[in-house]
Amino acid sequence: MRESFLERLACPDCAGALAVAAVERRDGAAIVDGSLACTACAQRFPVRARIPRFVPDSGYADNFGWQWNRFQKLQRDSYNGTHLVRDTILRRSQFTPEFLAGKSVLECGCGSGNDTEVLAEMVGTLVSIDMSVAVDAQSPATLARENVLVLQADLRRPPLRPASFDIGYCHRVIQHTPDPPRAFAQMAPFVAPGGVFFLHSYDTHWKSTRHFKYWVRPLIRKWPHERVFRWLSRLGPLLYPTVGALNRIAFLRRPVKFLIPFENHDRIPSKAGSTLTRRERYEYSLLITFDDLTPEHDHPHPPETLCRWFEEQGYVDIEIRGRRPSIVVGRRPRVGESADSRNVTSGRR
Ligand SMILES: C[S@@+](CC[C@H](N)C(=O)[O-])C[C@H]1O[C@@H](n2cnc3c(N)ncnc32)[C@H](O)[C@@H]1O
Ligand SMILES: [Zn+2]
Repeated sequence: MRESFLERLACPDCAGALAVAAVERRDGAAIVDGSLACTACAQRFPVRARIPRFVPDSGYADNFGWQWNRFQKLQRDSYNGTHLVRDTILRRSQFTPEFLAGKSVLECGCGSGNDTEVLAEMVGTLVSIDMSVAVDAQSPATLARENVLVLQADLRRPPLRPASFDIGYCHRVIQHTPDPPRAFAQMAPFVAPGGVFFLHSYDTHWKSTRHFKYWVRPLIRKWPHERVFRWLSRLGPLLYPTVGALNRIAFLRRPVKFLIPFENHDRIPSKAGSTLTRRERYEYSLLITFDDLTPEHDHPHPPETLCRWFEEQGYVDIEIRGRRPSIVVGRRPRVGESADSRNVTSGRR
């Protein structure tokens, strides 16, 4: 981490300012290993491999920590030769590169950094947090950037100054928290007056919920994720090509998605010009299947419910920007602006 980011940080327990307590290793202006301390309550927080750590390594998101360290790069645009992540971010948020330029962004639940590396190129300053050891799978290039700070921290208790970001960004994460409305209430105050929050969630449309994960997961809930992985590795060589073959017949796609517990995501990356090898293309689908089946929490919500969470947090100009998945963007009122200017609109998708 760079010391220039200290002014954005605050103790997650008492909101006191943080200061550098010890530096064991540096790389130019960046602290690689050392520790931070709260100037109010004296609590210490280690910095390891450039990342300040505010939570223990183990928690309900361990499956993600494991998954993102096992499959670090497959979904990264910079690795697979596509623009799929960039296109998805821009399409789903409806933010333009011009709008993003120069903004300060808080990314909640960054995983191994598929979105992080793309956002880092487009925005002014980026603070990306994840509670699991997925942060250790961020690329060295992203971690070394001057405009990026990655934190191992809980989005429900961000070690940051409130009301200090132009944009809050939470993509493919909130449904994996134990209590999504509460998690949103805990993130929402970190956006500055006049700033916006982009919130994505899995949705409850029948086309989305008729997915094998919703019947398989309850059956294997108690399995350690390593065991799920072993089984998927055994079944994958049979199920992956079967799903691929059946998906060529359009009317079978939906029943296949529900009945056969394996993904085949060959079409989209291939069409987008992916440079992944045959083996990596298989692993890409294995990763998505593992991601479907192992989260401790998967609580989808319709976009109208997300709108209500925004309203409850006093946001205005709340807009549904997607229905499958649920995507809502809202704005925090500017100083002096009344929350009565509240305005909720539904998007087309
Ligand atoms: C499906 S992954 C999405 C990662 C990334 N946003 C992406 O789209 O590639 C969900 C991530 O949310 C993280 N997560 C879940 N609950 C969290 C919490 N309370 N605080 C921080 N991160 C959390 C998990 O560790 C995991 O890396
Ligand atoms: Zn403190």
